[in-house]
Amino acid sequence: MKILIVDDEEISRTILLSKMVHMGTCVAVNSAKTALAELDKANSENQPFDVITLDVSMPGVGGQELLEHIRKKEVQNKIPKNDRVKILMITARMNLGTINACIKRGCNGYLTKPVSEVQLIQSLSQMGFEPATEEKTDKESISHSAGVAEIIKRFYSGKIVLPVFPSIVREIEDLLAEKDPCVDDLAKIVEKDLVISGKLIAIVNSSLYKGLDDVNSLKGALVRLGLKHTLGVCSALATRNLFDSENKALKTEMDKLWVHSFAVATLARRLAEEKGFDNLDTIFLMGLVHDIGKMLLMKVFVDMYPDVCISDKDLQVVIHEIHTTFGGVLLKKMHFSKQFIKIAEFHHWEEFEKDTDKELLVVSLANSLAMELGFGFFSKKDENDTPKFDVSDLFELEIGDLCLEIDDEFELDHDKIMEELSGLSSLKVLGLDPENVFSIIEQIHPMIKETSHAF
Ligand SMILES: [Fe+2]
Ligand SMILES: [Fe+2]
Repeated sequence: MKILIVDDEEISRTILLSKMVHMGTCVAVNSAKTALAELDKANSENQPFDVITLDVSMPGVGGQELLEHIRKKEVQNKIPKNDRVKILMITARMNLGTINACIKRGCNGYLTKPVSEVQLIQSLSQMGFEPATEEKTDKESISHSAGVAEIIKRFYSGKIVLPVFPSIVREIEDLLAEKDPCVDDLAKIVEKDLVISGKLIAIVNSSLYKGLDDVNSLKGALVRLGLKHTLGVCSALATRNLFDSENKALKTEMDKLWVHSFAVATLARRLAEEKGFDNLDTIFLMGLVHDIGKMLLMKVFVDMYPDVCISDKDLQVVIHEIHTTFGGVLLKKMHFSKQFIKIAEFHHWEEFEKDTDKELLVVSLANSLAMELGFGFFSKKDENDTPKFDVSDLFELEIGDLCLEIDDEFELDHDKIMEELSGLSSLKVLGLDPENVFSIIEQIHPMIKETSHAF
């Protein structure tokens, strides 16, 4: 593989070189002008580059303009689509507007700095390359990065079994979209899934939905829940199954991720209701699966490397930095819609434009709130801290006391939460009043944990 690295900053070029040097032949240049000269030279020697990493913001001709120029030239030279160079855009801070502009101009992927080796491997595997990893991948000497990189490669070559999302959730969605859905039709769908229908009865008899009498039949359970709540409860039951594990250590991590996901779903649904949106059940499901990439990465890691401690913070950092793009591709493979995929990819973004999908905004806001409320998968402080890297240490990420965290002792602090809320771009773009959001949090915070455990 022949790789051209284009970045005006020396440190960024050095980082990329150090991570890609064992993947192929690398050439690093500092401007669009020198990049074009290298490309011309390689083409005239009949040894074209396979991949270009392109810094978005460079003085003079920037990454986007260079990308556009390269693509135009390829069209002029009638180069078939499959033979065109793969271009990976890299920048310090991206927003959706930049991404969309780069996609429109023909990039094949995008990454934010500091770029990790695992992210590079994911992007290159996605483009159809099989990049070599530097470290050994045998059980004894497995490093976290190499382990996750191996999972990514297997995933893209179709060697990893995808989670199966029960079809009844979509069938119920379709039924509810009909003009006059009735409980009998709903029962016909739900009874096909023995696990979900059994659990549904137990949920209806739990303190959350309990009426005067115990419910013993599926139809009775559906009547008590009503058409409106059945889809949400079935979605949650279906998703809960995905977070199950026989492995004790993994189960502990999965349970935390489930509580986090459930909190995000519940908050997103309530915020969407506040805004008067009409697709509340879809938004709830979006919240439930927004971190699905993390779920599968952890499961596969434990399957492949049973001796590794899954709660190890360095491993969690590697998984965290890749869970968004991985989650997006996973949802695509599972045939979820574009909106779901976008949510998996962009829910950690800090800057949103005015025309951002409302579903992405509410789930992202709910994700930030869940961290604030102690339902963070990572502790709040660490997840939002900018990862620091140490040049002398070959730029490995270092994130303080990173940990998986569900805070049992949490108490709402009005001033602190208001301060956090005032800085959230998702809240501003949605046009929500911070005081109003605080009262919503006050109402639903106490029931999130109890409800999440009922599933
Ligand atoms: Fe996430
Ligand atoms: Fe999350």
